[in-house]
Amino acid sequence: MTKTDSIKHVASPLARQTLLDGDLTRPVAGRRPIRLLPWLQVVKIGGRSIMDRGADAIIPIVDEIRKLLPEHRLLILTGAGVRARHVFGVGLDLGLPVGSLAPLAASEAGQNGHMLASLLAPEGVSYVEHPTIATQLAIHLTATRAVVGSAFPPYHHHEFPGARIPPHRGDTGAFLLADAYGAAGLTIVEDVDGVYTADPKAPGGETAQLIRETSAAELAEHKGPLPFDRAMVEVMATARHIERVQIVNGLVPGRLTAALRGEHVGTLVHTGARRNS
Ligand SMILES: Nc1ncnc2c1ncn2[C@@H]1O[C@H](COP(=O)(O)OP(=O)(O)OP(=O)(O)O)[C@@H](O)[C@H]1O
Ligand SMILES: [Mg+2]
Repeated sequence: MTKTDSIKHVASPLARQTLLDGDLTRPVAGRRPIRLLPWLQVVKIGGRSIMDRGADAIIPIVDEIRKLLPEHRLLILTGAGVRARHVFGVGLDLGLPVGSLAPLAASEAGQNGHMLASLLAPEGVSYVEHPTIATQLAIHLTATRAVVGSAFPPYHHHEFPGARIPPHRGDTGAFLLADAYGAAGLTIVEDVDGVYTADPKAPGGETAQLIRETSAAELAEHKGPLPFDRAMVEVMATARHIERVQIVNGLVPGRLTAALRGEHVGTLVHTGARRNS
């Protein structure tokens, strides 16, 4: 006869308490996570700023990445660009909810990734889908020096309903992956020298000043537009590993190479993560 009181109790420090009380979970969950891929360099290539410009912008950056391969192991993530903006325009006109728009834009980011990966295919670089990035990045980057993926986070129909335009786009997705993997760095490639006090390409932009170094906390207070997702600035505040991100101009040959070598050639944005904390 089975005795009901012989159930084996699994010893777990979190088994007998709510997960909603920070004071109780902190002793168990407060420690810094391990770095899964400490040698990984994550590079986000702008959809609008690089990919939409076509061959003139893409071929030189592909040449630069090709030369970087012996030096670094790269996760290259592409943004969505102008086709996603068109999808947002049509979709919003039709009244589609944010969770319907997010996967449509994500597929545009994926298309850009497929194009970039095709150009790097002779070097052994392939496009990989998110499930592969999530579970098999280590083996892929042991077999080859770089893979390409979509920078969009796959929230899709789980996208947060606070805004009509999906708030978590390519920059947020790239940052989340870089931090989750404990990567060595994240570089965001744009068509401007970094973050300016105002959009340098908007009317009156000639007076905008380049900000060489700033922090997520300062940018959270910045009122004007930024060259990356606002949601990334929010995520940066609670980062666990990535201490800083550099925004570089991918239209200037050599900037990406210098950034990956640790040189200050764009705007450095410091996050909330601290070394050894
Ligand atoms: N404060 C700012 N500093 C620098 N550039 C800015 C700023 N505000 C707006 N911009 C503009 O942002 C542009 C880049 O646009 P955006 O970030 O949307 O492109 P992208 O990152 O290539 O696109 P995607 O997000 O689809 O990958 C720059 O060319 C610049 O004109
Ligand atoms: Mg951008």
